[in-house]
Amino acid sequence: MALIQWNDSLSVNVKEIDRQHQRLVGMINELNDAMRQGKGNEVLKKTVRELIQYAATHFRTEEKYFDQFQYPDAAGHKKEHADFTRKVSDFKDGFEKGTLGLSIQVMGFLSDWLQNHIKGVDKKYGPFFNEKGLR
Ligand code: FEO
Repeated sequence: MALIQWNDSLSVNVKEIDRQHQRLVGMINELNDAMRQGKGNEVLKKTVRELIQYAATHFRTEEKYFDQFQYPDAAGHKKEHADFTRKVSDFKDGFEKGTLGLSIQVMGFLSDWLQNHIKGVDKKYGPFFNEKGLR
């Protein structure tokens, strides 16, 4: 069973962003499956790198719209993105050096962070973006 199930409670009502969130959910599920299946470290490292790259692309998309529409809660939201990026990069460095392992706890952190972030701060910009014509 997938670690995260996509459902409407995760929708921010903006198609482009929902698609990106669905991809992030899919990548976390793939990483979890790979870990549980005991895939080799090279596969896991590649998946972690892809996840970090895609998260960066996604954060840039949201932040582009924050700037474009002068979203009032941008600063705190960008800080959440930056904090997550730093934590996951630190984890990646430790994982690649062999000092940190991928674990159920790490997967739980990724899964909880994404779902809490989407349901908390991401969903707040939905109505604001919709008012600006972004759907
Ligand atoms: Fe969808 Fe703010 O990340």
